[in-house]
Amino acid sequence: MSETTPRIPLIVDVDTGIDDSLALLYLLASPEAEILAITCTAGNVPARQVAINNLAWLELCGAGDIEVALGSEVPVLAPLMTTEETHGPQGIGYAELPAPTRSISERHATQVWIDAVRTAPGQVIGLVTGPLTNLALALRIEPELPRLLKRLVIMGGSFHHSGNTTPVSEWNIAVDPESAKMVFDAFSGLPDDRAPIVCALDVTERIEMRPEHLQRIAAAIGDEDAALSPDTPFGSRSQARNPVLRHLTDAVRFYFEFHVTHDQGWLAHMHDPFAAAVALHPEIVTLRPATVDVELGGTLSRGQTIADYAGLWGREPNAAVVVDTDPAAFFDHLIDRVSALAVRVEEAAGGGSH
Ligand code: BDR
Ligand code: CA
Repeated sequence: MSETTPRIPLIVDVDTGIDDSLALLYLLASPEAEILAITCTAGNVPARQVAINNLAWLELCGAGDIEVALGSEVPVLAPLMTTEETHGPQGIGYAELPAPTRSISERHATQVWIDAVRTAPGQVIGLVTGPLTNLALALRIEPELPRLLKRLVIMGGSFHHSGNTTPVSEWNIAVDPESAKMVFDAFSGLPDDRAPIVCALDVTERIEMRPEHLQRIAAAIGDEDAALSPDTPFGSRSQARNPVLRHLTDAVRFYFEFHVTHDQGWLAHMHDPFAAAVALHPEIVTLRPATVDVELGGTLSRGQTIADYAGLWGREPNAAVVVDTDPAAFFDHLIDRVSALAVRVEEAAGGGSH
């Protein structure tokens, strides 16, 4: 990356979350990413815990100047559900990050979204890796938001793929289906290159992180980690020297264990880091225009996302659905970036083997 490479201004809305955590690390590691603010929504864990997790990761990585704003603590209509069994009691698996010293912003997340797009119309990329509550609320106040954003990238939904929350619904949509529908409806009628990019389970469940991916980071930074192997007992903690690798491993270990106990193998689906990479580099995916809508009723199908690729509803496309990518190339990119961040953080703390 040259010094003249333009930076990409981003608003990142998260429900951190193990994979949201790695998405943040990836963005912090990416010189082209200019994180304007991180907005927090309730999802994997309650919104205040999400904010604490974000502040803690930022501080660990020496990025303590990025604003972290709290959003809605509940979905617009549905009762809040959280999933500590998937992401750990605090949402970051077994990781025990140093308590952050900074406070949550005084601005509300919706205000952050609105101010960012009004200040730099047509320039900001929005990335949402949690439920769409904050964005839906922001849209109520600023209906022009879809035209003021440069592009929106969403991790959410499942189309020709089983859900992960109900048989037909994906977590981020299932937590707040009304907000998801509001967002898809609001993005109707935009030019093709402005339609939200949707990273659904169809593709994100192909992004399988395995212990060897973390071992490659360890090797790249001259560290080692005994806690990665499936042969070690559940709950084993990382002994890594490098703090980024150690906390990341403790977080992801919990996610591996969740996946293995759900018969998916010793792996973890890295939905959110993939969406983050798409936000910076949409050229890594193949997109297909579709009209996307969300089922709000249905005795069995509430929260289902449906993509009409053939125009059968007679409505214009309102989304660009990711239909293909190269997972191995994504992991190469992720490992390079996160390894560099880990070295930088350790060097800043005065340690390291380099
Ligand atoms: C999504 O749900 C959350 O548990 C993950 O963080 C990801 O954003 C995957 O369905
Ligand atoms: Ca998430």
